[in-house]
Amino acid sequence: MAVKKTYITTSIAYVNAEPHIGFLYELLAGDVLKRYYQAQGKEVYFLTGTDEHGIKVAQAATAAGKEPQNFVDEVSKKFEQLGKDFNIDFDYFIRTTNPEHQKFVQEKWQQLESAGVLKKKKYSGLYCSGCEAFKTEGEIEGGRCSVHEKELEKIEEENWFLVIEEEKKKKIEDWINFSVYPETRRQEAINVLKSDSYDEISLSRSKERYGWGVPVPGDESQIMYVWADALFNYISALKINNKEDLWPADIQIVGKDIVKFHAIIWPALLIACGYELPKKLLVHGFINSDGKKMSKSLGNVISPHQLVDRYGVEASRYLIFRGLSFYDDSNFTWADFDHLYNGELANGLGNLVARTIGLAKKINLRPDFAKEHPTSGSILDFRHDLIELNAWINECDQNISANKVWEETESKRSNLDGILRRIWTIAGRLEPYTPETAKEIRRQLTELDSKPLFPRLEK
Ligand code: MSP
Repeated sequence: MAVKKTYITTSIAYVNAEPHIGFLYELLAGDVLKRYYQAQGKEVYFLTGTDEHGIKVAQAATAAGKEPQNFVDEVSKKFEQLGKDFNIDFDYFIRTTNPEHQKFVQEKWQQLESAGVLKKKKYSGLYCSGCEAFKTEGEIEGGRCSVHEKELEKIEEENWFLVIEEEKKKKIEDWINFSVYPETRRQEAINVLKSDSYDEISLSRSKERYGWGVPVPGDESQIMYVWADALFNYISALKINNKEDLWPADIQIVGKDIVKFHAIIWPALLIACGYELPKKLLVHGFINSDGKKMSKSLGNVISPHQLVDRYGVEASRYLIFRGLSFYDDSNFTWADFDHLYNGELANGLGNLVARTIGLAKKINLRPDFAKEHPTSGSILDFRHDLIELNAWINECDQNISANKVWEETESKRSNLDGILRRIWTIAGRLEPYTPETAKEIRRQLTELDSKPLFPRLEK
């Protein structure tokens, strides 16, 4: 039997605003993992896309004076382009306004209905359109949503609910214990699951009030709750591409603010529809800027294009994983990124490669690199992986100085040969993060043709 491809997904971004580096973070993590597995000889299918329904998106369209469909068509393109600009090798870009996706979620709805797990009831609660969710007591601070600090809207209407029975909860708990990473998020998911608010989950909204969403089959008064529609993208995309056999996903990457949707609601929907559960849910922290959550009103949003303008694509990819700690919250500053860029890329890696090739060229030393296999680092911990690689670079520099490798004797020759091979391995390990640089280092080593990799930043 053919080996199943490794299936990796990111969350799908709301198209209410331009992409910022928070979502780019996820795209890059998926891409790094894809390239890492590919380097090990595995085949990978990588999915990303955009979440185009919901109140938040509809409101943004109105504010822009556009029809929702025209608006989402425009903004979604920017997300897809962002992926291309950062050399992200996704296999498919799903959009939830795709009619095939909508048809798929309607079929799933009917399946849930036939399984008898949906019920309609009157409901009232406090809604945050930022989260697209009703908030429980613990999630409200001073009458506002603790994530978005937005005023909450009191909503009372009749909606469809998914019933999560005890047996299902037990299955979800077992799954969380084995699948949610890192530990802090696993614990958090368990705590949320055990709170009372998860016996029933609202899955629809009043059509009259919200309008913009997938119609609930057989009930003209309702549209699907945006999360019920969006979560199914991970399977609808496979169906659209005739790849349903790739389910269950091997790795799903999401941010810490959407853990409960992926660790509770998604498994509940999957179990109810008879699907297997994903193998791993990787939860990343937030990128803050100036010590605060990025937000338009504070004016501290970092755009991906600012990064590219300053450092180029390759260095930006490196710096995001080297300068930020993926599973924790991290504070972005230009000063830190500048410092890492000059210290580790322009000086560290760049100088080492230039210097070593210069020496090798003098004595025309060309090791047989074909025998070198890159050893893999602890790839789930991206930052640690790059810190370790950087230590290798420093060791090479020290070795060159301590052993005076520039002297042209036989023993120096073998020493230099070892360093050239080490750089070949470093290129291999850098490949998932900086694929073009890795390729270029290999070319330079093979052709003994040194060209600057990372020019020092101008002040
Ligand atoms: N549309 C939903 C996801 C549906 S998945 C079926 C959504 N969209 S979002 O655009 O608000 O967020 C997309 C991803 O970006 C989330 O995983 C979120 O955590 C991440 N980020 C948004 N802001 C972020 C930071 N400031 N830092 C890091 N990631 C953050 O949620």
